[in-house]
Amino acid sequence: MRELSDKAAFVTGGASGIGLALGRAFAEAGMRVMLADIEADSLAAAVASLQGVGPEVRGATCDVADPASVDRAAEASYQAFGRVHVVCNNAGVAGGTGIDNISLDDWRWVLDVNLMGVLHGIRTFLPHIRAHGEGGHIVNTASLAGMTSGLGFSPYSASKFAVVSMSEGLAMEVAPLGIGVTVVCPGWVRTRISESGRNRPDRYGPATAPDPASPRGALAAQIAALLRSGLDPADVARRVLTAIREGELYVFTHPEMRGAVDARFAAIQAAFDKAARGGCEA
Ligand code: NAI
Repeated sequence: MRELSDKAAFVTGGASGIGLALGRAFAEAGMRVMLADIEADSLAAAVASLQGVGPEVRGATCDVADPASVDRAAEASYQAFGRVHVVCNNAGVAGGTGIDNISLDDWRWVLDVNLMGVLHGIRTFLPHIRAHGEGGHIVNTASLAGMTSGLGFSPYSASKFAVVSMSEGLAMEVAPLGIGVTVVCPGWVRTRISESGRNRPDRYGPATAPDPASPRGALAAQIAALLRSGLDPADVARRVLTAIREGELYVFTHPEMRGAVDARFAAIQAAFDKAARGGCEA
């Protein structure tokens, strides 16, 4: 979608981090923007911070894990802007510890937000974009954790692999309709993702945090430090705008982290090579 000005964008997780940076970048590009988020106070502050940046910025409280909530936020966007062209299914949470300690509630929470939340956004907005026929673009935020399993067994990585796969399939389905799809796979970005528990709904029970003195606790501290020195979310947003304009499926923002993905592909190719040789030799 080459021309963004005078179009409208809907961004989940828009109150913080990458979502807020996307909202700002869209507003700067002349788009009307709806920020949707579960955290009402941060959402109000985010909307206020973008006043005057673009033609119109609004907010809708929304829990992406709840399809009816996403429908309501979409309805608010249609009321405000008429049509929505760019949908960013970006809200996400990180949670869980090692395999022995991840509760089923942790699994449900992370999959409900990171995977079902993306699905709800697609289900709600795709018929609308298809019907208005002005073209559109769906941006799903995955992660490098959706390309390589280096971070270990976790609901986060499982959800992000699923988002990559869904995005690839969706891209093939909607290309003939003039609708683009981008899946965003960043490495470390300077956001509040390590504080995801701040808006974990009560229905998932309390989060299980690793003992700070355990190896898992040390890993969590390391990850928090990597996030603090991570990429500026504005850099991710800039790449996403380019991808929308140029119709790119993948956005990678951390070329220096490519080795882990290459190693995974090399292992897969080696397994295929072995299969081609009959698959039985040592
Ligand atoms: P963040 O914590 O700064 O922002 C996430 C936003 O999502 C928050 O405003 C939060 O309130 C909102 N949110 C959480 N649960 C929600 C729900 N049920 N419904 C609606 N909104 C909800 O974190 P960040 O990093 O900006 O996260 C955005 C996306 O980027 C996530 O999908 C995350 O997995 C992904 N990502 C982040 C990376 C990083 O290093 N920060 C790296 C790769 C991917």
